Order: sequence, then C-alpha cells, then structure tokens
Amino acid sequence: MRKRTLLAVSGTAIALALGVAIAHEADHPAVKARTSIMQLYANNLGPLGAMAKGDMAYDADAASKAANNLALLVQLDQSRLWPQGTDADSISGTRALPAIWQNFPDVAEKGQALAQAVNAMQAAAGADLEALRGAMGAIGKACGDCHETYRAPDQ
Ligand code: HEC
Repeated sequence: MRKRTLLAVSGTAIALALGVAIAHEADHPAVKARTSIMQLYANNLGPLGAMAKGDMAYDADAASKAANNLALLVQLDQSRLWPQGTDADSISGTRALPAIWQNFPDVAEKGQALAQAVNAMQAAAGADLEALRGAMGAIGKACGDCHETYRAPDQ
C-alpha cells in the first residue's frame, strides 16, 4: 500500500514536470504577443485601480499617463494575434477558449466595449479622482465580460 502511494506520487511529479516542459515548448509567438498586450493592459490599469480604491494618492499626471497608454493599446490592430489553431484545445500555453473563433463578431464587440470605456477614462483620469472613479467600473466590466466568456480559468 505504502509502496503504491509512493509510486503514484512520483508518477504525478513526472507528469507535472513533463506538463511544464510541453507548455513551454508550445509557446506560440501569437500567444506571447497577445498575452503581452493583456499584461500591458493590466500594468496600466494597476495605478488607476489603486487610485480609485484609495490605495494610492490621486496623481492627475500619473493617471493621465496610464489612461493614455491604455488608449494607445486598444488601438493596436490585433488581427495577426489570434490565428486559427491557437486555442487552448489545440495548443498548450494559452487560455484562449475555442469559442473565440466561433463568435468573432461578439469578441470584436467586447473589444469595442473596452475601447469605449478606455476613451471615457482618457477624458476623466486627469480631471479629478471622482471622474476617474466614475470611469473605472466600465473598464473593469469590459475586461471581465470578455474573460468570463472567452478565457479559460487559471490552472
Ligand atoms: C475581447 C476580449 C478581452 C478583453 C476585452 C480583455 N481580455 Fe484579457 N484576455 C483575453 C483572453 C482570450 C486571454 C487569454 C489569452 C491567451 O492565453 O492566449 C486574456 C488574458 C489576459 C491576461 C493573462 C495574460 C497572460 O500573461 O497569460 C491578463 C492579465 C488580462 N487578460 C488582462 C486584461 C485586462 C486588464 C483587460 C481590460 C483592460 C483585458 N484583459 C481585456 C481576452 C480579453
């Protein structure tokens, strides 16, 4: 019994090690590029969210910079970042659900919703804290709406 448990444990360890190696090998350049944009979204949303929550002192200049960066990021053409066959069922190292490729108009609409929310933030961020707070909800909702439908849960 004890021996069997040990075997099972070492088997799991090997599977985990292999899993990591495979995920790394399959890293697709388009996946790297699109997750990098997502990381830049998060990086710029960070200070805006912290100011909205009161975790960071309001700074009109820093808020404007972050909002302007977001406004540039949503303008990037992403058509080369989502090639067929780069969904989570086809390759490892991505959380993009196959539903993306079955509902492209809806995905684009969700991207548009983010762009609109970001434009509103660009106008609000440098005005005052109340305006920034008012623009925050729509951005969070736009990110969340798309993730809920089109991104696999973190593993
Ligand atoms: C139109 C859909 C959509 C919108 C809008 C969207 N995301 Fe994403 N996001 C995705 C998908 C799909 C993935 C998974 C991509 C992959 O793993 O290939 C993802 C992944 C991420 C990741 C993980 C990146 C990584 O390194 O694995 C972060 C962080 C993220 N998004 C942040 C954001 C933030 C912040 C916003 C809003 C400002 C946002 N996203 C808006 C679809 C979206």
